[in-house]
Amino acid sequence: MAGRRVAVVTGASSGMGRAAAVHLAAEGYRVFAATRFPDRLADVASKNLTPLLIDLRDDADVRAALESIERLDLLVNNAGYGLVGAVEYVDETLMREQFEVNVFGLLRVTRAAIPKMRENGGVIVNISSFLGKIGLPLLTFYNATKYAVEGITDSLRYELSPFHIRVHSILPGFFDTEFARSNLVKEPRTFESDSPYAVLASTLAPRIVEEINGGNDPEEVARLIAWIDQNPDAPARMTAGEKAKKFIPMRRELSDEDFERRVREYYGFA
Ligand SMILES: NC(=O)c1ccc[n+]([C@@H]2O[C@H](COP(=O)([O-])OP(=O)(O)OC[C@H]3O[C@@H](n4cnc5c(N)ncnc54)[C@H](OP(=O)(O)O)[C@@H]3O)[C@@H](O)[C@H]2O)c1
Repeated sequence: MAGRRVAVVTGASSGMGRAAAVHLAAEGYRVFAATRFPDRLADVASKNLTPLLIDLRDDADVRAALESIERLDLLVNNAGYGLVGAVEYVDETLMREQFEVNVFGLLRVTRAAIPKMRENGGVIVNISSFLGKIGLPLLTFYNATKYAVEGITDSLRYELSPFHIRVHSILPGFFDTEFARSNLVKEPRTFESDSPYAVLASTLAPRIVEEINGGNDPEEVARLIAWIDQNPDAPARMTAGEKAKKFIPMRRELSDEDFERRVREYYGFA
């Protein structure tokens, strides 16, 4: 690795983003920790870690923030949240907001970053999810955004390889972060007791929340990001955490129908 690497990590105020920013700074990277809440990073700010205010929804804001950085070697597209709701009840606002952050926000930061990386090469790591390859009920919109992130990764790998920019995705399983504790958005009608989805909502949603809150340590993802950056032959797509390591190989090996049967059994779906 020539010189000190400069990294931008989005969604850096908590969870995997925070762990990645702190880990990379400890490894000697110059880290810009992009967040809506720079104050939340005050306790870890240092000469290696600078909080950077970014609103992913605002293209001018994203461009101005990236413009303030002299060069960029590693971009970690991590910001994202989950929306739980039945497709028939999720309204335009909730639906669009989910894509606004998880997909268009990621694309905004990426397109502002590419010109900064094109001259010297670089690495982009997209934090997707094992739910970027596996669907679950009431998570259709979240699934759709993460499947989109997988598609973006695949396309960009071709588009940017002539400029020595590597694009990777990490598919985490369930990790103990603020994802389910503070940032999960629930469509209210889905969860009402007379909703046609009430049984599913009252069994699956709490189970998944429990699995996330009892999930793996985000430090695992932080270490994997650094490893991918430092290993030019790193696989395009990597899993992290127990659930992804269990389900992603199964998804690859089984037919759609057999895989669906396994998931139905596992979660007890009708
Ligand atoms: N936890 C899991 O089990 C899990 C599993 C698979 C994939 N993932 C993915 O991993 C990534 C990191 O999530 P995490 O688990 O570390 O959760 P987290 O602790 O909630 O962190 C996610 C970060 O994304 C940003 N964010 C969240 N909601 C947002 C919104 N409505 N608008 C704009 N930014 C928002 C926030 O960044 P700022 O507050 O700094 O702006 C937040 O700190 C996400 O892309 C998530 O989808 C998580």
